[in-house]
Amino acid sequence: MAYVVHNYPHCYSIGCEPNREYTKEAIAKIKEKENFYIALVTSQEFLPFLGFAEIQDQKNLFWLDAHGHGFDWPLAFEVEFITYHYNKSFILIDDFQVPGKPQFSYDISTGRECSYQTIKQHIKNGYQVYYPAYTERTSKTMNLVGWGLLVKDWEVPEELKDILC
Ligand SMILES: C[S@@+](CC[C@H](N)C(=O)[O-])C[C@H]1O[C@@H](n2cnc3c(N)ncnc32)[C@H](O)[C@@H]1O
Repeated sequence: MAYVVHNYPHCYSIGCEPNREYTKEAIAKIKEKENFYIALVTSQEFLPFLGFAEIQDQKNLFWLDAHGHGFDWPLAFEVEFITYHYNKSFILIDDFQVPGKPQFSYDISTGRECSYQTIKQHIKNGYQVYYPAYTERTSKTMNLVGWGLLVKDWEVPEELKDILC
């Protein structure tokens, strides 16, 4: 969140984190800014209170990166809620399994696989999933980490065809 708040000052960032210490840490990194809001709750508690009626037809970016450690596993709920209520959102899921590309790691730390198979029945309204198109590593120290992007009624723009497919 700190990255987005600092680099996209014209955007308003909203997030939730149920761990008090992590929330304090996140706020400390961006406290001098005014373009953000963080709630100390789970996404299951937070999403229904977001006021989606006002922003459901806007292009929102959701960044889903919670795997539930110490809290209820949220991904199925998050995907179902967002794809049901929002029409034009971009939904990025971090640590997601990339089919056919085993060089990308993905999360399975709580016993729930972070993958299309696990969430497919929760994707509503014709949202489709896109994956990394590349397999090159840009970091010498970090391995490739998988992600998935859910979007609806969208064609991959020419300039992004090297990145996602
Ligand atoms: C991988 S970390 C996210 C880190 C953050 N995106 C960043 O880049 O710094 C996952 C976080 O999700 C939080 N979490 C776990 N279950 C959650 C839930 N149900 N709703 C919201 N957050 C949750 C954890 O407390 C943890 O801090």
